[in-house]
Amino acid sequence: MDNELFSLSGKTALVTGGNRGIGLAVAKGLARHGANIAIIARNESQLQAAKEQIQECSGKKVWTFSFDLENIKGIEGLFENIISETKEIDILVNCAGTTTRAPAEDVELEMWNQVMQVNLTAAFVISQSFCRHRKEMSEAGKIINIGSLMCHGARPTTTAYAASKGGLLMVTKSLAVEWAKYNINVNAIGPGFIATNLTAPLQADEDFNRWVLSRTPFERWGQPEDIVGAAVFLASSASDFVTGQILYVDGGWVAAL
Ligand SMILES: NC(=O)c1ccc[n+]([C@@H]2O[C@H](COP(=O)([O-])OP(=O)(O)OC[C@H]3O[C@@H](n4cnc5c(N)ncnc54)[C@H](OP(=O)(O)O)[C@@H]3O)[C@@H](O)[C@H]2O)c1
Repeated sequence: MDNELFSLSGKTALVTGGNRGIGLAVAKGLARHGANIAIIARNESQLQAAKEQIQECSGKKVWTFSFDLENIKGIEGLFENIISETKEIDILVNCAGTTTRAPAEDVELEMWNQVMQVNLTAAFVISQSFCRHRKEMSEAGKIINIGSLMCHGARPTTTAYAASKGGLLMVTKSLAVEWAKYNINVNAIGPGFIATNLTAPLQADEDFNRWVLSRTPFERWGQPEDIVGAAVFLASSASDFVTGQILYVDGGWVAAL
């Protein structure tokens, strides 16, 4: 087995939304494969707890940045602060995300904008900062956007979320074709239904839970740790000729009729 192919030793990864759920599992996974980790989220105590967990499982360096990604204009300055501490970011994982659940005709503009800003605009703007940084360093880079089944299809009451994730897939493809010349790979992961805070109301809903189990060929909810393998692959040199793709980690959902 050629472990070098998946080694992240000497790299630093920035994971937005890295203080819990999928982002924390990915941060821990990248750290266990050798990367130092910087994480961005709002909740300070969860940031500190995540830092301890990542250090404990990997022994790697961890930096935390408390920041609200709805503050789009502040992202460039945040990125500069991050670089002044970490010196370099080789891998960017855009994982921070939020949702709103309401019939489309009742979605308030404020909620629509919040979902778009965190899920789509912030991911794009931080990717711009990352690209400028990699160009300045004359170094390659990897961007991984955490998409969703809703890069592929929709279901009722999730219009803003589906629009943001559909947009994120097209940002992934657009940046992939534009930034290949800088040796920046841009890919997405499409998680199926994963048991996290975000889906807690859905897990608690008996009908919904039954639907998820019956619709998923593997007949279970995913766990945040299920996303780690895809993230390590897309962050490592194993994926150097892969760009503009979405890898669904969904227990077979998208494949099933
Ligand atoms: N769970 C699933 O079934 C599923 C399926 C497909 C895709 N996803 C995607 O996976 C990603 C992670 O979700 P999750 O399921 O792990 O949910 P989660 O546990 O609720 O995590 C969401 C993360 O995003 C951060 N975040 C949210 N709003 C933010 C803001 N305004 N500024 C900065 N950070 C913010 C949260 O930290 P703070 O609250 O501390 O800011 C948290 O770290 C999301 O992009 C989600 O759309 C999840």
